[in-house]
Amino acid sequence: MSTGLEIGDLTVPRAGFPIVRGVSLHIPAGEVTVLLGANGAGKTTLLEALSGLIPATSGTVELDGVDIAGFGRVQRALSGLGHVEQGRHVFGELTVAENVEVATGEAGAIDRALAMFPELVPRRDVLAGSLSGGEQQMVVIARALARNPKALLLDEMSLGLAPVIVQRLLPIVRTLADEGVAVLLVEQYANLALGIGNSAYVLNRGAVVLQGTARELAENPDSVRDAYLGTSAVTTGG
Ligand SMILES: Nc1ncnc2c1ncn2[C@@H]1O[C@H](COP(=O)(O)OP(=O)(O)O)[C@@H](O)[C@H]1O
Ligand SMILES: [Mg+2]
Repeated sequence: MSTGLEIGDLTVPRAGFPIVRGVSLHIPAGEVTVLLGANGAGKTTLLEALSGLIPATSGTVELDGVDIAGFGRVQRALSGLGHVEQGRHVFGELTVAENVEVATGEAGAIDRALAMFPELVPRRDVLAGSLSGGEQQMVVIARALARNPKALLLDEMSLGLAPVIVQRLLPIVRTLADEGVAVLLVEQYANLALGIGNSAYVLNRGAVVLQGTARELAENPDSVRDAYLGTSAVTTGG
């Protein structure tokens, strides 16, 4: 089994300015690691650097014990790193099966990926553009699963979806981890994410300001809120 994803002291710039600053994350196989943080904290920037979409200036990235920091995006994907990008859509003019097929040439992989989403199976030959928003997000995730990733980065997969859809998707994320995938879950529905997570980190202005087990964070909403707002280091002086 894979050991997961290890990120050490990663710094990632945007337009020459460091947006992610010295971030270290431990994302074990078989676990859901939740990454929280306000809009603009640098979550997407971090994930894009992990999957090789943008370069990091320094730091280490190891997948299953292999140093992939020098790999390009295709090499990282082939090494087993999957990334469901924020705002990613289906190809509406392709069928459900074709959407998954573009990620992999392998027919068995399509069935395996769709099997995670029983509601998609009878709809495999309909145009993906005709599906509901929640079903389209399932297709996007199935596309990533078709490559059989060792580690999966999920960036706000529930953006724009109703909480009821999120409650349908999150147990699937849990199942993936239970099957051995190392999952990094970026999610705005913090409580729902912590409910299925093992450990969690809060990012603020590109740095980790709070980390713990998912249960610890769920039981300390005040600390999490302070970490989001960046006020956790501020003392009131009584
Ligand atoms: N393409 C870009 N060029 C320059 N700055 C960017 C770009 N994308 C995001 N940023 C900036 O980087 C910071 C972090 O953004 P992002 O990683 O998208 O945060 P999050 O995903 O946590 O909302 C923000 O200040 C944002 O304005
Ligand atoms: Mg983002």
